[in-house]
Amino acid sequence: MVLGMSRVWRRAPAADPLAPAATARTIFEHVVVRHADRQVLAIPALCLDERRIGLIGDNGSGKSTLLRLMNGLLLPTCGRIVVAGLDTAKHRKELPAEVGFVFQNPDHQLIFPTVGEEIAFGLTERGLSAAQARQQALALLERHGCAEWADRNVHELSGGQKQLICILAMLATEPSILLMDEPFASLDLPTRLVLSRRIMALPQQIVTASHDFDLLAEFDRVIWLDAGRIRLDGRPAEVLPAYRAHAAIAGAGDVVTS
Ligand SMILES: Nc1ncnc2c1ncn2[C@@H]1O[C@H](COP(=O)(O)OP(=O)(O)OP(=O)(O)O)[C@@H](O)[C@H]1O
Ligand SMILES: [Mg+2]
Repeated sequence: MVLGMSRVWRRAPAADPLAPAATARTIFEHVVVRHADRQVLAIPALCLDERRIGLIGDNGSGKSTLLRLMNGLLLPTCGRIVVAGLDTAKHRKELPAEVGFVFQNPDHQLIFPTVGEEIAFGLTERGLSAAQARQQALALLERHGCAEWADRNVHELSGGQKQLICILAMLATEPSILLMDEPFASLDLPTRLVLSRRIMALPQQIVTASHDFDLLAEFDRVIWLDAGRIRLDGRPAEVLPAYRAHAAIAGAGDVVTS
């Protein structure tokens, strides 16, 4: 198993009187996102409680926006989002301990010169000493067959290798919710199969935007976003064929939809 870090660092979530009492991990209430005057997302009510949730939709439909709202990188123009009992507008500092995130573009995520430093960073943020963090980062890389990458410059890695490091950096800190924005898009098929199998075996909740329908078919729930609104929300067996039918019609024309 990928994860070996103790959980001593985990902070108890700050009490939120309006947080849902039920088991729901994420609640959206009357959420609207506008950029300048353009509305890009509108979700009146949404409760995300299943362990495996996929987000699909055409380019520009709002998948990344929804994920960014969940980790507090983006605040809604109206409404509120509560994740693991934390209102994202009030508890931005506490969110990273609960919510891990893999960016759609690895270059937006990787900030340290070397692979080892990149993975160790999240561990030191959670209270490990520099030496402990380095040791755990090396152990994680070794478990994934990339021990020799520890001192490599992240900017010399290929796109797929960078994506793998982003996923490992997120897994290293054992957040309780894993948000991934098209995490496997640049990975070769063997790496994708290994990682998706490992990730699917993890106990944490996973919410991922993806166009990988083979992966999403194994999920508990799939949400189809269309122009910033939820068009269909249900089991993969219901939502994936409906989206395929839409894509077949839209793809038959000459104009790109996004
Ligand atoms: N910073 C921004 N400023 C203005 N508009 C933005 C900004 N970020 C996103 N948008 C707009 O919001 C809409 C939703 O974008 P988003 O990135 O969430 O889509 P997506 O479903 O993730 O698309 P893709 O499949 O291409 O990744 C798009 O129309 C996009 O142009
Ligand atoms: Mg996106």
